[in-house]
Amino acid sequence: MQKMVIQGGVALRGEVAVSGSKNASLPCLMASILTDEPVILRNVPRLRDIRTTLELLERLGVESRWIGPHEIELHAATMRSHEAPYELVKTMRASFFVLGPLIARLGRARVSTPGGCAIGARPVNLHISGIRALGARVQLRHGYVEAHAERLVGARLWLDNPSVGATENIMMAAVRARGATVIENAAREPEIQDLARMLNAMGARVSGAGTHVIHIEGVERLHGVEHCVIPDRIEAGSFMIAAAITGGDVTVSNAPAGHLDAVTTKLREAGIVVEPAGEGLRVHRNGPLRPVELRTLPYPGFPTDLQAQMTALLTQAEGTSVITETIFENRFMHALELVRMGADIVMKGPTAIVRGPARLSGAPVMATDLRASMGLILAGLVAENTTELDRIYHLDRGYESLDEKLRKLGARIERSGGGAAAA
Ligand code: EPZ
Repeated sequence: MQKMVIQGGVALRGEVAVSGSKNASLPCLMASILTDEPVILRNVPRLRDIRTTLELLERLGVESRWIGPHEIELHAATMRSHEAPYELVKTMRASFFVLGPLIARLGRARVSTPGGCAIGARPVNLHISGIRALGARVQLRHGYVEAHAERLVGARLWLDNPSVGATENIMMAAVRARGATVIENAAREPEIQDLARMLNAMGARVSGAGTHVIHIEGVERLHGVEHCVIPDRIEAGSFMIAAAITGGDVTVSNAPAGHLDAVTTKLREAGIVVEPAGEGLRVHRNGPLRPVELRTLPYPGFPTDLQAQMTALLTQAEGTSVITETIFENRFMHALELVRMGADIVMKGPTAIVRGPARLSGAPVMATDLRASMGLILAGLVAENTTELDRIYHLDRGYESLDEKLRKLGARIERSGGGAAAA
């Protein structure tokens, strides 16, 4: 089992460029199902989750090939299957986002329900109710969602909560429906906006992406497209926090500053300097870290995917911070590992009380999800001695060449127990 071995104590300095957004790439890859013409996606990160998605698409009949380091051509000329099998969906729950495109293209879909994961139950009820609202007959049998619709019909629907995946699944189903669809209380994440840009470039008629109300005029067919995926705001935020926790000075050269307002605001509250630098952001510290109050919220609120990283940072603040996770019901497992490294964190339901500054000492730790893994790496960067992070396949799902990028900034971090990331 590969591990990451970190020697703490180095202030990171230099410049880093983040990869394309994992969470924008996944739905954009699935949108290739919606046309029988070739699709080219640029700035796609080389990650395990991307490889898993390509395997799933291949089974469905979507041919794909890399035509550049981060460019991929996909072609769903003819579809071979309408089924997303359990053994793939269970390894990556976002596979469930093929439900909408499959029904839009084929009029039927059989997709395994993803089940829960370490951070929560992760139900898909909003996806299912959205597809039903568009006229599909949907039933749950043997752990699979089975959906049929001669042709979907546009509808006005309301999401109980602004689910990112449900918004994307419903958008991809609605773009070829007959008539108009209105999604109320839609998710507003930049990844939703990126998907809408791609769909519109394919001939769809989506407006309002990025707001709580998305309007979609259904069209008969969609054509091929070349689309460039947005930079990964969560990776950018992770490197900004890495600069902050190590007391360094790092420029994230392509940080999507407009997607990071909540993160920038919180870092500034904590006493970190965040300033524009060319196309990106420069982050450095010129004084003690201050404690903050933080609640994760749907976009444009503070992203849950950066909560673990902020928790690690705030173990170093001079005072007591309060962090509340409102999106997922079990997303503080990294807190227990941080306590093993010497952090002072007390859990009160969905809230972590973090007292600092705590002297962290390196330890063998392990993570249960992608972002918790990053939080523990950040703690390792500031801890004394050696931190060994186990189960780093989580990391390779969502961070491209992470150890290389951190080494370039001066971090003493090595991958042990095997070759480079398999992506
Ligand atoms: C997306 O997951 C992201 N994944 C997650 O990133 C991210 O944490 C999450 O959005 C929130 O921003 C991808 O985009 C591939 P949700 P998603 O549906 O779509 C509840 C990472 O590390 N809910 O917005 O699954 C759900 O339980 C991953 O990159 C329902 O109740 O998240 C959660 O409490 C982790 N019913 C809340 O909504 C549903 O049908 C938000 O979930 C769907 C969701």
